[in-house]
Amino acid sequence: MGKVTINTLKEMKKSGEKIASLTAYDANFARILDEAHIDVILVGDSLGMVLQGEETTLKVSMSDMIYHTRMVKRGCKRAMIVGDMPFMSYTTPAQALGNAARFLSDGGAEVVKLEGGSVIADTVCYLDKHGIPVCAHLGLTPQSIHKFGGYHVQGRESKTANQIMNDAKLLEEAGAVMLVLECVPHQLAADITEILKIPVIGIGAGSKCDGQVLVLYDILGITERQPGFSKNFLESATSIKIAVENYVSAVKSAQFPTAEHQFD
Ligand code: KIV
Repeated sequence: MGKVTINTLKEMKKSGEKIASLTAYDANFARILDEAHIDVILVGDSLGMVLQGEETTLKVSMSDMIYHTRMVKRGCKRAMIVGDMPFMSYTTPAQALGNAARFLSDGGAEVVKLEGGSVIADTVCYLDKHGIPVCAHLGLTPQSIHKFGGYHVQGRESKTANQIMNDAKLLEEAGAVMLVLECVPHQLAADITEILKIPVIGIGAGSKCDGQVLVLYDILGITERQPGFSKNFLESATSIKIAVENYVSAVKSAQFPTAEHQFD
């Protein structure tokens, strides 16, 4: 199995092969995920909650993210690495370019992920023009948690559903190479996945997305509160590696997510 690149993911979307992704924050877990044939490792700013014990992702810094991305890079040979740009690190195209470049040069990431809709379109275009591939992130974007007033499903009303759909199209036009859709109704996610040409990776967004991403510590059952859209894969496995392999095969065979892990 060769190195996963953005071209591999585009081919997978075309052929209908599901993309399996998990977060990781260090070299050992990255190696386990890589050996279990995870396609994409996301060095998520969820590390603020998962590793640092914060209530939100808002305190995560650029240096935290570069430090963890570099560790993941050392453990990873095959998977594509996506680095999550932290809160307030991409408020202007120029600031985003400087910080995104650090993810690629110092951290070893191949793609950077930015949260937000039309407000980040110019930045996505600017990074793309400078050769930096961007994964957009729509729906329940945790860096806007105080705007949402809690971790609630987004896009249930037609106005917000249209907004997410329009933002998805706009970000694809701006040059985003992939999209993460978090906690949106499964039908909206299915419609966006069908309309976009870029791969759409869901988390709490139903089974029709081109792939799935979950927080590693949730699938290992070691976070304090496991979200309803996630599943503990360690319960029925005899090792972490087997749990991750079972997750990969459940995503690839469309056995995960099921109706109980998605929202109407
Ligand atoms: O930070 C993160 O881990 C994420 C995923 C949950 C999509 O953004």
